[in-house]
Amino acid sequence: MRRSVVVGTGSYLPARVVPNADLATFLDTTDGWIRERTGIGARRIAADDEVTSDLAAHAARRALDRAQLTPEDVDLLIVATVTPDSPMPACAVRVQKKLGITRAPAFDVSAACAGFLFGLTIADQFIRCGTARRAIVVGVELLSRIIDWTDRTTAVLFGDGAGAVVLEANESGDRGVEVVKIHTDGALADALAIPAGGSAEPLTAAGLAAQRNKVHMVGQEVFRAAIKGLGDVAEEVLAEAKITVKDVDAFVFHQANLRILDAVAERLHLDREKLVLVLEETGNTSSASIPIALDAALRSGRIRQGDRVLMAALGAGVSWGGALVRV
Ligand code: UT7
Repeated sequence: MRRSVVVGTGSYLPARVVPNADLATFLDTTDGWIRERTGIGARRIAADDEVTSDLAAHAARRALDRAQLTPEDVDLLIVATVTPDSPMPACAVRVQKKLGITRAPAFDVSAACAGFLFGLTIADQFIRCGTARRAIVVGVELLSRIIDWTDRTTAVLFGDGAGAVVLEANESGDRGVEVVKIHTDGALADALAIPAGGSAEPLTAAGLAAQRNKVHMVGQEVFRAAIKGLGDVAEEVLAEAKITVKDVDAFVFHQANLRILDAVAERLHLDREKLVLVLEETGNTSSASIPIALDAALRSGRIRQGDRVLMAALGAGVSWGGALVRV
């Protein structure tokens, strides 16, 4: 059976580290509140001259290097992001140019924090049905440009970064993507959204002044949806694979809030040691969080080749998904 095998991962975090204490200099917040309520200690913020496609291209190049492949070996490029360089064309187009790929189709996927798993699912389908042989899936966000820096309920949560995986078709062996599951329920569409800047609410001077072009979130609604969605989809993936949590070597969940991850770990009765965590250093990087965490764990040896990794994420939409991958 043809499978999509992860043959390389890479990530990129901007150089500037912004600890919680720096936010407390201009927001009514404290390092203690942020750590206790979220588990976040710092986040990376892109330099003024960096754009989303720069972050994505750095991560993709590192993934290609680890896969010992060149850009021309790739026949599909998917970029998961809600913070493209500009509304049109797709961010993937800019990334493609920076990588020096000239013909492979390149497009964006918009599923917020679940975007990487939506991209992985699409790439896996392309590879399984033979339309593509090698694909890059990038999760990238430059959230610092769409945050209302006067709103303490969102400004403390997010960070910038990119992560990428290279997938390659393989007809033998037991490595590869085993299960993917993705879902969307638009009932909570307004719980986490950027209200203005599209056809429903074109940006006006008044909208700009009211920061309607920035992220607005009803945190507790998303919090509850995340605990349920991550737990449900993890169980769905395990059931489809006919395995239990004990058969999984590592859990790479979307890094939004440590309390969410603790609640999911408790529900699933999983060994907390198996949770891969980068949240404290990165904050919530939306679609980038899973590939950043996966890459960090592979590079540190925390996840080894052949391990079974369960990934899950939920974000704006709400959209959520899960994947089981033998890396
Ligand atoms: O990645 C996409 C998915 N996103 C998520 O998964 C985020 C999900 N939501 C969350 O993680 C949490 O809901 C938050 C971290 C956003 C908020 O935590 P919470 O425990 O739900 O806090 P809360 O909204 O219930 O607010 C509790 C109090 C409020 O004050 P009062 O009304 O009790 O006086 C807030 O105004 O905490 C206050 N507060 C803050 N205080 C200090 C909210 N933000 C801050 C802050 N610093 N940064």
